[in-house]
Amino acid sequence: MTRKILVTSALPYANGAIHLGHLVEYIQTDIWTRFQKMRGHECWYVCADDTHGTPIMLRAEKEGITPEQLIARVHEEHSRDFAGFHVAFDNYYTTHSEETRHYSEDIFGKLKAAGLIEIRSIEQYYDPVKQMFLPDRFIKGECPKCGAKDQYGDACESCGAAYAPTDLKNPYSAVSGAEPVLKSSDHYFFRLSDPRCQAFLREWTQRGGRLQSEAANKLQEWLGAPDENKLTDWDISRDAPYFGFEIPGAPGKFFYVWLDAPIGYMGSFKNFCTKKGLDFDEFWGKDSKAELYHFIGKDILYFHALFWPAELEHAGYRTPTNVFAHGFLTVDGAKMSKSRGTFITAESYLTQGLNPEWLRYYFAAKLNGSMEDLDLSLEDFTQRVNSDLIGKYINIASRAAGFIAKRFDGKLQREHVIARFRAELPGLLEAADEIAGHYEMRDYARGLRSVMALADRVNQYVDRNQPWQLAKQEGQDAKLHEVCTLLINAFRLLTIYLKPVLPKLAQRAEEFLNVAPLHWRDAEYLLPPAHPINPYEHLMQRIDVKQIDALIAANRESLEPTAAPAAVSPAPTSEPHSPQRHAQHQQAIIPPPQPSPAGGEGVSGGAFAPVIGIDDFSKVDLRIARIVDAQHVAGADKLIRLSLDIGEGDGKTRTVFAGIKAAYDPATLVGRLTVMVANLAPRKMKFGLSEGMVLAASDADGKSPGIFLLSPDSGAQPGMRVK
Ligand code: 2FM
Ligand code: ZN
Repeated sequence: MTRKILVTSALPYANGAIHLGHLVEYIQTDIWTRFQKMRGHECWYVCADDTHGTPIMLRAEKEGITPEQLIARVHEEHSRDFAGFHVAFDNYYTTHSEETRHYSEDIFGKLKAAGLIEIRSIEQYYDPVKQMFLPDRFIKGECPKCGAKDQYGDACESCGAAYAPTDLKNPYSAVSGAEPVLKSSDHYFFRLSDPRCQAFLREWTQRGGRLQSEAANKLQEWLGAPDENKLTDWDISRDAPYFGFEIPGAPGKFFYVWLDAPIGYMGSFKNFCTKKGLDFDEFWGKDSKAELYHFIGKDILYFHALFWPAELEHAGYRTPTNVFAHGFLTVDGAKMSKSRGTFITAESYLTQGLNPEWLRYYFAAKLNGSMEDLDLSLEDFTQRVNSDLIGKYINIASRAAGFIAKRFDGKLQREHVIARFRAELPGLLEAADEIAGHYEMRDYARGLRSVMALADRVNQYVDRNQPWQLAKQEGQDAKLHEVCTLLINAFRLLTIYLKPVLPKLAQRAEEFLNVAPLHWRDAEYLLPPAHPINPYEHLMQRIDVKQIDALIAANRESLEPTAAPAAVSPAPTSEPHSPQRHAQHQQAIIPPPQPSPAGGEGVSGGAFAPVIGIDDFSKVDLRIARIVDAQHVAGADKLIRLSLDIGEGDGKTRTVFAGIKAAYDPATLVGRLTVMVANLAPRKMKFGLSEGMVLAASDADGKSPGIFLLSPDSGAQPGMRVK
């Protein structure tokens, strides 16, 4: 059955370059859509630049051009970069389009008619010089927690604290340098907290077990227990001056990102439908039978799995079939960094002469359909591409092609070889369904492992038969012809299996094999007898480590000391919905303290607890704490009352009753550092409220003298996160 499938990737901002972090998503999506097309489905892949917002407006102003000129230039750059990595959108459009405006207004109007839009006055920082309200990322000041200077209005890059811009000390506008003032203004809100949204989302997120398990867990957490209402209303407007669409009937108010950017998916598809003569409603209408998938980064899951379906549902459109979230890219185990040269742009990768299909292959070999982060280890990258693609796959063609050309007039054997093929290379024809299943589930890592296991088998066949020896022996022509024919057929099948990942290489392989563009169903048979092939030209170079070194050097920003920081810092390049910003919606749910397991069989610490994932562990907020006071507790024979500074500022401390009296004299504790669980629900005890716990090691039954309070290495500061 032919499926109708519409696929999107998140719309990149139109004010920054595409980098390797972006490419994880576009390559992942492109592989999936290419696979669906190879299967014969009607599959469309659309995307667009996300062109609206304050940063774009200000950047254009700084460059002395109009926002329209800026977004037109960036559209060119993005299109060039995506094409360079063979990301084949069916339509790459812009949100600054009449189509997107139409659907934004339409959805807004329908939500308003349904009573889901509300106007509220909110107070925000305003730049009196520039005469504009300031997004959080355009307000800077001193961190209210650690005092670090020049921190953004939503989170501190020095200590990681998240806060509101009004918490900053000595705030200033990053646009003009002026001190911002608080000013009220009316904002439009989408009422996500409305019981209709609640009810719909509880059902939608559960329907058919559609979501990735990590995503389903996150959503469960955001939605809360059935009797809770944890969803908050969303501010969907911004005040002029703003580059975007003005809200109908609301002069000076503009649609903000989540009532604009995702609607760009519809705008881009509508534009495509007009060009292609397709029926838009067949894909977006309420009763659409088509499938709709959004590939996104995990930081925008909240918006795509809650806000967006609720918006569509209540405006009378179909909702997504699924949302596929992926993790972030790290390079050599760390966040991409300009100073280390690992913040690599798509453009520099290509201009340094690296082959885009190396990266496509490497990302694919690591993508498994989960939300885990993906690491680009540069050494592993070089090693894996060279050994898998050149060593295992390309070599099959290069070993057989020369003999076919020189000895057999460029033609395969005249006899049917299917029986010999099945006998000598079992599993190669039969693997098509299994590999297809892995692509379908976006577990490319598994799919490619299977393909490489097949390639290993083919190489073992080469070693068993040693065509270069057969070529030297008398009377072995027929055998040599058969071996090379089988190898060319094996190469063709592997090309089909790799084609979604390596489309350009596959195209060159098709030319060499002298065949029409390969589809998945072509893996059901072999090449016909006496099929002529073309002369072999080398299909892919190995990676030379020198190329990687040059790439890093080209992306490394100078570490020379710069001039003293200016009062006005450069404008940030991205809109303020960073992962930190979303953190406010990701409150961890900490289970009540459990009694420790007694009588375990472990060394002396008792039985090991069941395995947990990193997500579970990261719910526990561990902080460095300074013990500022420690006192005996009258009437308690095990407890010491600790007052702990965990960097919350203003002399604030937390009280914790710790069962360490048997091992410590309170006086010796004052001033030392330890580790505290900062987000444990407060517990009412007989002696007062305990606001967390400190970490100590002990044997299974916790008896004296085995209690050892944990200490960090010197240099740690109160408030630092322990992970
Ligand atoms: O977070 C972002 O990258 C935004 N440009 C929005 C992308 S998703 C969308 F368009 F819905
Ligand atoms: Zn800080």
